[in-house]
Amino acid sequence: MHKPLTKQNRFDLGRQDAGMLELGVCYYPEQWPRGKWDEDARRMVELGLAWVRIGEFAWSHIEPQSGAFQWEWMDEAIEVLGCAGLKVILGTPTAAPPKWLVDRYPDVLPVDERGTVRKFGARRHYCFSSRRYRVEAARITEAMVRRYGENPFVHAWQTDNEYGDHDTIHSYSDEALRAFREWLAARYGTIEEMNHAWGAAFWSMHYNTFDEVDLPNNLVEEPSPTHLVDYFRFSSDQVKSFNKAQVDLIRQHSTGRPVTHNFMSQNTDFDHYKVGEDIDIASWDVYPMGGLINGRLSDEEKARYLRVGDPDQTAFNHDLYRAVGRGRVWVMEHQPGPVNWASHNQSPADGMVRLWTWLAYAHGVDMVSYFRWRQAPFAQEQFHAGLLLPNSEVDQGYLEVAQVAEEMARLPKGEVREKASVAIMLDYESRFATRALPQGRGYAASSIALDWYSAIARLGVDVDFIGQHSDLSGYKLVLAPDLVIPDVDFIARLKASGAKALFGPRSGSKTRDMHIPADLPPGPLAALLDFRVTRVESLPDFHNEPVLYGNTSHPVTGWRERIRTTEPVLATFESEHRPGSPAVIGNERARYVGTLPRSEFLSKLMGDTLGWAGVKNLPDLGDLRLARRGKLHFAFNYGNAAASVPAATDATFLVGTRELAPVDVAIWMEG
Ligand code: GAL
Repeated sequence: MHKPLTKQNRFDLGRQDAGMLELGVCYYPEQWPRGKWDEDARRMVELGLAWVRIGEFAWSHIEPQSGAFQWEWMDEAIEVLGCAGLKVILGTPTAAPPKWLVDRYPDVLPVDERGTVRKFGARRHYCFSSRRYRVEAARITEAMVRRYGENPFVHAWQTDNEYGDHDTIHSYSDEALRAFREWLAARYGTIEEMNHAWGAAFWSMHYNTFDEVDLPNNLVEEPSPTHLVDYFRFSSDQVKSFNKAQVDLIRQHSTGRPVTHNFMSQNTDFDHYKVGEDIDIASWDVYPMGGLINGRLSDEEKARYLRVGDPDQTAFNHDLYRAVGRGRVWVMEHQPGPVNWASHNQSPADGMVRLWTWLAYAHGVDMVSYFRWRQAPFAQEQFHAGLLLPNSEVDQGYLEVAQVAEEMARLPKGEVREKASVAIMLDYESRFATRALPQGRGYAASSIALDWYSAIARLGVDVDFIGQHSDLSGYKLVLAPDLVIPDVDFIARLKASGAKALFGPRSGSKTRDMHIPADLPPGPLAALLDFRVTRVESLPDFHNEPVLYGNTSHPVTGWRERIRTTEPVLATFESEHRPGSPAVIGNERARYVGTLPRSEFLSKLMGDTLGWAGVKNLPDLGDLRLARRGKLHFAFNYGNAAASVPAATDATFLVGTRELAPVDVAIWMEG
């Protein structure tokens, strides 16, 4: 498929055929004898792969001792892969600092919440605030980028690896403490400003200088939520500046190559939009089996979707990272079979690797790279599948990738994902806020957002994600499931945009300082809808708080708000406790939900909301999911029975048929 290349015969760097799906794989030449590389590279190309990612954990192989670089093996690996016709994505190796470095500079190590140093022996053992680590990370990045920045086979860069993996955004080291104090001084200017924001009048928490402030761990009771949210903001900013330092070096010495970072699923420990501003393409790592096991569904649903995964979680993240990458999104690691790291690690059903690959493409992803080429027979991830078995025989994933490569050739080129008419807000600071002040166990913002997304997806509607900075033009409907800290400016732009909006409970409930707004919640949202929230209750799961919506009484658990309003009431609480009080309210521009609708209630509410906003939608799709990319329509069957695809009568099927078997994909064009 790809012509063998020489160094003289350069690719157009980082380029992809517009709208085409390209495939790739993660490869670790340092883990295999040199004798295997040529054959591996040949087989990758034979499979139809165009990209190969290497290097992200290779530091101790590049620099086994301080300053003693050993580049030859990497030179050769890049040459072998490139000459075979593969485009190399080079990872900076900073996710795994070598032992000699850690021994020489122990203050690079992160410290956990209990104050224990996290030691060498795995990976991600560094503190983002360590000045020494910043120097070392810049040193190795610069050395690498100087050596390979203009290499004709290196087409893209990945910074580090999965910021946040293994709970590594928050460190409680002395270096973090020093940097946090500086950050606070810059944010507040004077200590009295900070005292005011943190509510220091409470529990005698007054500080005289920034140097007295500590990190919010190991306290007798919970810290001030403002202290905690500031610490989360600070930690997030540390990730951004750490990443940016690498990006700047790459841009300086490697012209024309896009820079990416591989984000994780469902991680809100730092503001991904802010890191996304500094890179060219957002990548993320897709592991739907672990995602199901660790995810939001009930055990009964998990049993039902055991080998196909949560039908919406993966699509949610594709859409989110499309926003983080400002339109450009890749999958850097894709599960090829069972993984090793969840509490239970089931095999995907045969066919799911193919289905997920097409799902990625349908949601705007231009490159899917599988993790990993060959299963490792040693070390921590022995149980993690590859495209090949440890003895190099092909495994199931390989066969499915081969099928995708073959099917790809049937599709027209140049189809790109268009802007949706519905946008969902994901605001990272609001996530920090509910984490700092959860007000009960039942409230989990990430599940709520995914439930809302899922309810829309079941009605066949494409969505985009937005942050408060995003351009709102063209949206008919904005959904904000958990916008706790809205900006006045965002609300003004929303008002001017003409889009209708649906807000979930707690929206507008905190100021940037984590206070209750002066005129009560919902703060700035009141510009769209006249109401006040005067009380909130978090409720245990054994308690049902039914809501009358339309003519139906829906069971609700978990959350109830007391709303005072002059606006029309669209649903009411029914229990003996203040029956008839508002649960959902709305005017012609905005609606607010003072509880946590699930299942049929949520589905009905979303259907009505789409109708209200003039967004075309379909009857509940059950286990079928749809997506569109340009002229191409896609259907995915997550169910265990065949389903009929809602394609127009004149549809031309390019892949699959109108009757879709379980775990199958259909791709068609209409008109
Ligand atoms: C990712 C990580 C990879 C590998 C993979 C296994 O989180 O980036 O290096 O460990 O998980 O599923």
